Amino acid sequence: MKKLLVISSLIFVPLLLVSFITRESASQANRLRKIYSQHPSQWPAPFVDDNVKWTELGLIPPSPIENQKDSLQNIIALGKALFFDPRLSSSGKISCATCHDPALHWTDKKEKSIGHEGATTQRNAPTILNSWVYHKLFWDGRARDLQDQAFGPIESESEMNSEMPDVIRTIRKIKGYREFFEKAFGKNEINPDRMTEAIAVFENTIVSNKSKFDRFLEGNKKALSNSELRGLHLFRTKARCMNCHHGALMTDNQFHNIGTAGADVGLYKVTHADADSGKFKTPSLREVMHTGPWLHDGSLKHIEAVIERLNEPAMNSQISHLIRPLHLNKNEKKDLISFLIAISAPAPHFEKPVLPQ
Ligand code: HEC
Ligand code: HEC
Repeated sequence: MKKLLVISSLIFVPLLLVSFITRESASQANRLRKIYSQHPSQWPAPFVDDNVKWTELGLIPPSPIENQKDSLQNIIALGKALFFDPRLSSSGKISCATCHDPALHWTDKKEKSIGHEGATTQRNAPTILNSWVYHKLFWDGRARDLQDQAFGPIESESEMNSEMPDVIRTIRKIKGYREFFEKAFGKNEINPDRMTEAIAVFENTIVSNKSKFDRFLEGNKKALSNSELRGLHLFRTKARCMNCHHGALMTDNQFHNIGTAGADVGLYKVTHADADSGKFKTPSLREVMHTGPWLHDGSLKHIEAVIERLNEPAMNSQISHLIRPLHLNKNEKKDLISFLIAISAPAPHFEKPVLPQ
């Protein structure tokens, strides 16, 4: 009899506990659903440090050219052709889209990219989705805008390995391009400024599709699962992500050392200030589940590893004071990842251009 009691309690007590915990977390999710169904201005304050100027998460605002799309359509068409045109590279084989592939959410899914004659780049290729949001481009911020950025890969030895004068000469010889430039700029003169301007304008049209989180923000209260809701709350509170990944695009447009630098000095390369060593641009987390492997060097292949790194950061004097041990438990880590999935949208349909001849 006693034995039976022991055995049954061995079974029932854990069962009860499990059902209690499940119910507890479901009722927590219900509470959160009520809170987060309100307008974001009513959401609980995020856990951010005093000196952090944060903005609330929200729907992605229209890109700067959204309501000029009609008047810019010929420039957009030109930029799109150039973006997909391997004739911009010295080998004639590599286009921007080689490493920023629309079918792969405008990245290449590689740790480092493969460019000219199989050379590997030093860093991981970010997606160009929503890249209009950045005040500075590249992991180390060395380009001041999208147009400035576009010169980089064309001339980079490990990417397209061209010289601008050669590219211009090649493009000028293509009759179709003369017509494209005429339509876009009213003049058929082809020069580097116009070329990079067109690429930049085109890139401004590459924006995210709606994610589950967006549908939730638009008022569909069921768009987020319980786990995703708990993840949203953790993201804004205990996990401290909002200290850097805030605003609609989940980037503060700043540079931080979060202990991931490895051999790369990051922002230091641009500013030569010791304090900037190992700092990288805070990437937008929109689409994050599609942009792995992660970090500037593509060194983390599993999102769990990224969360683990943030949960138990390697502390040293160079690391941002915003980074600290988070003490997230297993379920909290899972919920946080659920939220990252909910902010990653399916790729919109995209039609590649027919290249001018
Ligand atoms: C060989 C692969 C490769 C090619 C080709 C390539 N890129 Fe990239 N792109 C990268 C890598 C790698 C980075 C990150 C480099 C860094 O931060 O130092 C990058 C960064 C960028 C960024 C900055 C994004 C951000 O969040 O800061 C933009 C925009 C971009 N590329 C557009 C282009 C355009 C336009 C072209 C064609 C003219 C192009 N890329 C060609 C690999 C490539
Ligand atoms: C101190 C600012 C800061 C905080 C706080 C922070 N991040 Fe980041 N995050 C960054 C920076 C900077 C990078 C880029 C680091 C690199 O590439 O080496 C990054 C990279 C990432 C990446 C990889 C993105 C990619 O495209 O490769 C993910 C995922 C991420 N953070 C999620 C989070 C989550 C989730 C939290 C909260 C638990 C968080 N971060 C907290 C600044 C921060």
